[in-house]
Amino acid sequence: MSFVKFLGIGSAVPEKILSNLDLEKMIDTSDEWILSRTGIAERRIVEPEVATSDLAYEASIKALEDASMDPEDIDGIVVGTITPDYIFPSTACVLQSLLGANNAFAFDVLAGCSGFIYALHVAKGLIQGGGSKNLLVVGAETVSKIMNYEDRTTCILFGDGAGAAVITTSDTPGILSSCLGANGDGGEFLYMPAGGSRMPTSEETLKNGSHFLRMEGKEVFKEAVKALQSSTLEAIKLADITPDDIDLLIPHQANYRIIEAVRKRLKLPEEKVFSNLDRYGNTSSASVPIALDEAVKSSRLKRGDIVVFSAFGAGFTWGASVVRWQ
Ligand code: UT7
Repeated sequence: MSFVKFLGIGSAVPEKILSNLDLEKMIDTSDEWILSRTGIAERRIVEPEVATSDLAYEASIKALEDASMDPEDIDGIVVGTITPDYIFPSTACVLQSLLGANNAFAFDVLAGCSGFIYALHVAKGLIQGGGSKNLLVVGAETVSKIMNYEDRTTCILFGDGAGAAVITTSDTPGILSSCLGANGDGGEFLYMPAGGSRMPTSEETLKNGSHFLRMEGKEVFKEAVKALQSSTLEAIKLADITPDDIDLLIPHQANYRIIEAVRKRLKLPEEKVFSNLDRYGNTSSASVPIALDEAVKSSRLKRGDIVVFSAFGAGFTWGASVVRWQ
């Protein structure tokens, strides 16, 4: 069986900043509360005319450039998102058209904030299964489009952005392990009630704001800490390494207190855990690949390092992956 490695990465965030001070003017909150309870200072928000595929396109072009590849070299596109351009066709298909990636199959993965880890796991399997060589794996979101900016318990948390990676076959191990998990019993704690077949769009759903993301933060918080820890441990066991071997952990960027709890449970020093949460908030599927791109560009992640990705999200879903960075 061939190995799989990263060949290029890229990310994109909108220019517009929504700061805690901006939010103070919109809802009953404070910069102090948001910073101390979440670690978030600001997040990026798209303009009304920008869709998820637009951010995905920007990130993908950068990843392709980084990989020195043309869109025609890509065999397939897998996009993790909870904010697709449409319910159908998939955002991956929209992206395929924007890129002119004429030789690529394309589909979306809907796995909450674990979307990129799920997409990566699936794409790795498609390469190792033998049918594909170069795949574009994307996590892209415009969470602001499903945000209720009157709900202070959710709107302070989320932001928009996209990250993309080109992965390909390798003679030496790149992605050392990858694992996924889910617990559908947790669905009610983080979801968007309306717009699907259970509750189609109606005057009623528009009136009561059922098209917005809803979350019971406390429940999600507890499960996130448990799952981020257990999936990280599972992935490092599968890779036959120990926590001491980790050079950098890139956890899903949801809440600084979650990241700290996981770091302490794994007994990792602060400098081995990456966070850019203060600047982007929770960008759902995009959080791990944006952080990865920044970690590489800032030389926090170097050739030969062991990096671990770990994510948790709606579903509930979770997953982790261990990579020797090449
Ligand atoms: O990507 C995966 C999904 N997301 C997550 O992992 C997020 C997980 N959850 C969280 O990050 C946290 O639960 C939150 C940040 C959402 C909430 O923090 P918390 O420490 O669990 O706060 P809480 O819900 O217990 O609320 C404490 C108090 C409440 O007031 P009372 O009832 O004690 O009077 C809230 O009404 O804080 C109040 N509150 C706020 N106050 C100012 C809630 N939101 C705000 C706000 N500003 N934005």
